[in-house]
Amino acid sequence: MSVYPVIISQMKFVHRDSLNYPFEERGLQFGDGVYEVIRIYSGQYYLLDEHVDRLFRSAEAIKIELTFTKEECREYLLELLKRNKMDVDGKVYLQVTRGSATRDHVFPADTPANIYAYVVKVPRPLGKLANGVGTITHPDVRWDYCYIKSLNLLPNVLAKQEAKENNCYEAILHKDGVVTECSSSNVYLVKDGKIYTHPSSKNILHGCVRMRIEQFAKDLNIPFIEEPFTIGGIEDADELFLSSSTSEVLPIVTVDDLTINGGTPGPITKKLQETYEKDAQITGAEPATSK
Ligand code: PDD
Repeated sequence: MSVYPVIISQMKFVHRDSLNYPFEERGLQFGDGVYEVIRIYSGQYYLLDEHVDRLFRSAEAIKIELTFTKEECREYLLELLKRNKMDVDGKVYLQVTRGSATRDHVFPADTPANIYAYVVKVPRPLGKLANGVGTITHPDVRWDYCYIKSLNLLPNVLAKQEAKENNCYEAILHKDGVVTECSSSNVYLVKDGKIYTHPSSKNILHGCVRMRIEQFAKDLNIPFIEEPFTIGGIEDADELFLSSSTSEVLPIVTVDDLTINGGTPGPITKKLQETYEKDAQITGAEPATSK
């Protein structure tokens, strides 16, 4: 991973080597912060407004005061790409923590938030988009506020690692058999031409790509039903797919020992992939579905 040289630190543009955090930093010690990952295609952000809105919602939910407006945030992020002459596919990682202070669980007084953002190149996962990925099922042992994009990702990290150790890409999380989402993406089941997914309650992250998929479904006249499905229900699925800013619309072709749709991406998933590519104005690459 190569980080572009110019980063944002405390709303200033500085060289990446000058980021210097003290030992006593709330993000490092408590995971006391929130973050965003925003996709970049050919040097342009995709869903920038949606991500900035969610950053503000997450910060507010954990009572971190931001000292800039949404408009300023967007301007800084756009300027970050300009200063780096970023013109390829990538992502920006943006993190806000409750700041640097002597270690104490209680919020520190008069302490400004720590903010940084950096840009990296990330190619599209074309092979996975075309062929689909394998998944495992895993209990969702996270807390009750998964709609906050918090830095506390240990349960997500452990679930994803277990997927990796089973030669899979993702872990489908469930609470007593009810599927919530994946370790770092949202998940959907297709049955009889309808898309089912967990409602955007506090138990899942309200994915920016999920929001777009809901709109795509509306435009394509595909019912988008916010009803949770179960691990047992996956056996009857016609198609299964997941979504995130880095995974796009990604077909799932196996779940544990079960094969979905004969191990190939299904027609509704492919239609959504095509719509995604148009929406994100992806150019210069063949459509994922033709690879
Ligand atoms: N993850 N659910 C979880 C738990 C996630 O971590 C993510 C994103 C999503 C999808 O959200 P969006 O469509 O806004 O990317 C759902 C990012 C990519 C990450 O942590 O790297």
